[in-house]
Amino acid sequence: MSRKVLVATEKPFAKDAVIGIQDACKKQGYDCILLEKYADKADLLNAVAEVDALIIRSDKITREVIEHARNLKIVVRGGAGYDNVDLAAATENKVVVMNTPGQNSNAVAELAFGMMLYMARNKFNGKSGSELKNKSIGIHAYGNVGRNIARIAQGFGMTVCAFDPFISADVMQADGVKPMESVEEMYATCDYISLNLPLIEATRKAIHYNLMKTMKKGATIVNTARKEIVCEDGLKMMLAERPDFKYISDIAPVCADELMEKFGSQCFFTPKKMGAQTGEANVNAGVAAINQIIGYLEKGITTFQVNK
Ligand code: 3PG
Repeated sequence: MSRKVLVATEKPFAKDAVIGIQDACKKQGYDCILLEKYADKADLLNAVAEVDALIIRSDKITREVIEHARNLKIVVRGGAGYDNVDLAAATENKVVVMNTPGQNSNAVAELAFGMMLYMARNKFNGKSGSELKNKSIGIHAYGNVGRNIARIAQGFGMTVCAFDPFISADVMQADGVKPMESVEEMYATCDYISLNLPLIEATRKAIHYNLMKTMKKGATIVNTARKEIVCEDGLKMMLAERPDFKYISDIAPVCADELMEKFGSQCFFTPKKMGAQTGEANVNAGVAAINQIIGYLEKGITTFQVNK
């Protein structure tokens, strides 16, 4: 019997990415099943029942989903963050989980600058704004997106700093980036802070009021990571006390409506997470995902496994 690969994407990949996945499946003799824009969890539960492999984006792969997928051997998150997958449940059920690091990071970084320019120019409302040139940006976590942020920021003529306890100063310096000794120092000295942290227990609400309140006059936080890393109560206090402070995010906070009503000129949120939503990023991540599935099912290759 041929292997079955399910592409379950509530927010679909671009058509070319889907074609790339389907072509790779066909070449390998795998069946490719497409479940896009599903509204109901029941649709996902039904669809996973017989499949060997699963390609997802931010789709929630809970214990219930994993336990429903009796033949499942591998889940590949076409993207970077895998906080949407129950890793413990996957491990218990001998399901390998992988991500596709770096494949969509340029798209995410470009969107950060799109949002920064939009806010620096007062949402294009005709009022005089400010430029990115000669401003400083602090990159909070220097992974694949962070590195792309640094590269683009240098093109704008910004001073680039970064904080990441897992990346050596030498790596940052080789990129022309100033390593910061502490998060506190970076928040207190940069005009822009770019959030590029993964969501794990240690980073939940890590961007709290006491950190934000030290930020420079006119400072902006741009979040292309996860909404949960910012403390929403602290954010509300900060926006209320500091009309000069701006918060822009590709992932609307839970209290987005309240923030827009009270602090509309200080905030911007994309209506749906858009960072990785480009044809290029979708093809990169989608094709990497199917190639990783083939590599695992045919040769046992476990590069990029995240639940070891
Ligand atoms: C990621 O973790 O790769 C990004 O947040 C993109 O997520 P998405 O595939 O749901 O757009």
